[in-house]
Amino acid sequence: MKIVFSASVGADERGEWLRILRATCPRHEWLEHWTPGQTADVAVVANPQPGALHGLHGLRLVQSLWAGVERLLLDPTLPADVPLARMVDPVMNVAMAETAAWAVLSLHRSFFEYARQQREACWRQWPQRRAATVPVLVLGLGSMGRAVAARLAALGYPVSAWRRSGGGDAPLPGVQVLHGAAALTAALEGTEVLINLLPLTPDTRGILGAPLFAQLPLGACIVNFARGGHLVEADLLEALDGGRLRHAVLDVFATEPLPPDHPFWTHPRVTMLPHVAALTDAHSAASVVAANLERIERGQAPLHLVDRSRGY
Ligand code: NAP
Ligand code: GLV
Repeated sequence: MKIVFSASVGADERGEWLRILRATCPRHEWLEHWTPGQTADVAVVANPQPGALHGLHGLRLVQSLWAGVERLLLDPTLPADVPLARMVDPVMNVAMAETAAWAVLSLHRSFFEYARQQREACWRQWPQRRAATVPVLVLGLGSMGRAVAARLAALGYPVSAWRRSGGGDAPLPGVQVLHGAAALTAALEGTEVLINLLPLTPDTRGILGAPLFAQLPLGACIVNFARGGHLVEADLLEALDGGRLRHAVLDVFATEPLPPDHPFWTHPRVTMLPHVAALTDAHSAASVVAANLERIERGQAPLHLVDRSRGY
């Protein structure tokens, strides 16, 4: 098959991606450059610039190397009739579970506070609480949310997880699964650490804002590992400065890279990562791509298709 590759990354990273994709899927012809009107069977993309696939004919699949596809879905030139698959990779899920475990343990055991105390040569001990007394709520129980909820439950936290539908997936031991607005309201009241792993859709944009913060107990913590568009930044700053929220751990931002003069960089109650909670692993992602290419060749539906009407 003829496969085009489009990624909004630097030349070195693009070259490395192509090397690994070609090595994993050697029977196919991989193209980095094409002209409008050209035909290709599949487009493999990593957060491409809007319009990147415009003018290509004959596509049978757009395969994203990213888990989140909101930018692709906003591209009016993305052909409406071509199936779109997103990246679902167990290696990425494990990475996200590790980052979430770090964030929750650090919040629960005051490790961010101890890091600050070290910078100030301050010797002060805080109470050591048991994990079982720190309720965690995970928003979104998809590929990432399931891995995170399972890891936190295994660490001894009381974990609830909120999703859109009633489910049907295998139960997760130690995780209370919720859906619906009333269940969310009830869960927020008793949540100490809230982790956002929702997709960015018209329904979820801005969900981390003042109305939700007001439903959390005083001193709760927020972790946003999903998308910057979920967070109302001004509301978070107000909630942190007013003492409603104790701390925020943020990996994703409305503008990335975060501008140098943004208040999050120096805020004492914000811990930041540069969008690295779960990076795509090139080797395992290439295997996921290979599996979908084989399915197309066999006439089977590709895996991990996005439902465009739901936005994820
Ligand atoms: P996913 O598999 O599509 O899971 C989505 C989950 O959110 C599902 O459980 C879904 O409910 C739920 N959901 C969707 N809309 C909802 C709504 N309106 N109300 C309540 N629940 C809703 O997504 P994923 O792969 O786990 O990714 C999760 C997030 O992580 C995405 O935003 C993605 O962009 C982000 N991400 C970040 C990084 C990073 O490094 N920071 C890396 C990868 C992914 P149902 O189960 O009922 O459908
Ligand atoms: C990263 O944020 C991804 O969506 O894969």
